[in-house]
Amino acid sequence: MQFQNTLAFARELDQQDELKKYRSEFHFPKVNNKDVIYFTGNSLGLQPKRAQKYVDDIMKDWKDLAVEGHFYAEKPWWDYHERFAKPLSKIVGAKPEEVTVMNTLTVNLHFLMVSFYRPEGNRFKIICEEKAFPSDQYMLASQVKFHGYDPKEALVEIKKREGESFWRTEDILKIIEETGDELALVMMGGVNYYNGQVFDMETITKAAKKQGAHVGWDLAHGAGNAELKLHDWGVDFAAWCSYKYMNSGPGNVSGIFVHEQYLNRNDFPRFEGWWGHHKERRFLMEPEFVPQPNAEAWHVSNAAVIAMAPYLASLEIFEEVGMEKLIQKRNLITSYLEFVLHEIDKEVDSTFEIITPSNPKERASQLSVLLHGEGRALFDYLMESGVITDWREPNVIRLAPVPLYTSYEDMYHFGQILKKGILNKKK
Ligand SMILES: Cc1ncc(COP(=O)(O)O)c(C=O)c1O
Repeated sequence: MQFQNTLAFARELDQQDELKKYRSEFHFPKVNNKDVIYFTGNSLGLQPKRAQKYVDDIMKDWKDLAVEGHFYAEKPWWDYHERFAKPLSKIVGAKPEEVTVMNTLTVNLHFLMVSFYRPEGNRFKIICEEKAFPSDQYMLASQVKFHGYDPKEALVEIKKREGESFWRTEDILKIIEETGDELALVMMGGVNYYNGQVFDMETITKAAKKQGAHVGWDLAHGAGNAELKLHDWGVDFAAWCSYKYMNSGPGNVSGIFVHEQYLNRNDFPRFEGWWGHHKERRFLMEPEFVPQPNAEAWHVSNAAVIAMAPYLASLEIFEEVGMEKLIQKRNLITSYLEFVLHEIDKEVDSTFEIITPSNPKERASQLSVLLHGEGRALFDYLMESGVITDWREPNVIRLAPVPLYTSYEDMYHFGQILKKGILNKKK
């Protein structure tokens, strides 16, 4: 498609957008009495309007039924979490029994490491990407130390090549092969939070499994954004938060994936609690643990249903739309944003450097842009002008157009605001 950086062209794309009606399903903050241009759905998604009712329903059931709500609420609480497995399995490419929701992301990664990082003798190394999200770095280092190893020896960080902005799959594969039978685990962010790169999860997973290692993915930036086939790729485990592309609300509950080969097994190491105990026998209060025959065996506590309610509301929208349409729009709107950025770059004689791969297979919604010669003042100007984005040192802004609620017109207006911000500074 031949793009144009004009309002008429952007509006034409919006006209043809099959998902355009979903924009009105979300609450937009306002700046100067206008809906903002929201680029931080990769940090905290907007509130779906239907979320309120889902929360109110639980509050009402709690008011009217108190403890009886566990069994007699409109959506009973004791199995509330089960409603997530089917819609989430479609989003991450899994079987419903391989998926569940519980706890928060870093907590879940720790729990899954208990099962899948079992260093023994020489096989104790973990491969991860350099400068992974700090919580993952702390999580990995503390797990390594917990097992009595030294993070400096155990953590093998994959680096980008000198002067390059993204990782090369061939470099990752080479290190996997070199680490060989010392490799216990590959644990990486499926979509890097800083540069938005989508790793070739299938190829990396297969290469690591060939060396006899386990493979886990942190899908904080992948779930609801990138195409995932966790089951078919043979991934051992994954976890993601729900408050970014899945619009569940701040700090909300996390999803996990555990491959079916580890399900229904009493011999598999896990930290256990009563909510992972077999559902039919849970209230018999037996002393022996019998795991749920699905990923719920990893549940420890009873479900925080009030928190889960907005997530369920949001998943209803994902069910209606489906990942295929979402990804189609994601590709088009991200390419349009890329085009607008290049056009503005020419007009202001500046040097933007997009540090996200231009290959659509290696990126999803996010474009990270290095604004050479620009300072934080430009970011402040964008925010005051109603463009909500974020700033990462030294001078990177991350822009994530979210297909459910971002319009092509937003992309055009953003370009104009950006241009004004740069030109004003140059005067
Ligand atoms: C890639 C990645 N991993 C982990 C986390 C931490 O998530 P939580 O605070 O829910 O544990 C985040 C949060 O933004 C993230 O982006």
